[in-house]
Amino acid sequence: MPALIINGKDHTVDADPNMPLLWVIRDLVGLTGTKYGCGIGVCGACTVHLHGKAVRSCKVPFSEAVGHDVTTIEGLGDDHALYRAWTQLNVPSCGFCQPGQIMQAAALLRQHPDPEDEEIVQSMSGNLCRCGAYQRIVAAVRAAAGVTR
Ligand code: FES
Ligand code: FES
Repeated sequence: MPALIINGKDHTVDADPNMPLLWVIRDLVGLTGTKYGCGIGVCGACTVHLHGKAVRSCKVPFSEAVGHDVTTIEGLGDDHALYRAWTQLNVPSCGFCQPGQIMQAAALLRQHPDPEDEEIVQSMSGNLCRCGAYQRIVAAVRAAAGVTR
């Protein structure tokens, strides 16, 4: 049976190759931090990392992830600078979009440790927040970038 590497652990999964990675992560592996929003790749709630890059897991077939490193919000690490910034700036409202926001931000900071505000806005623009926490999100990414300098 195919194996997925999620947060550094192997998971043997019996799934249709076309099943979206999001379904596998949540329903078969049981990691429910990654959220289902739109299911069509436009809201960002399901964002995870595949080889360190942010992807929309609702649009990635299981077969594309087999044998590759997947990181979910549970695997980011409790001491990540983004968590500290998110807490200090009290970013979440309802919280639903936040795992996807943080995973998107983490991928940005890995590629661009000291991004300009425009880069932050551009990178985060595909992650929707019905509560309108956008200004706090940008501020928190900036704060986290400061910590990693
Ligand atoms: S649930 Fe995947 S982008 Fe919305
Ligand atoms: S905090 Fe509620 S949707 Fe973003």
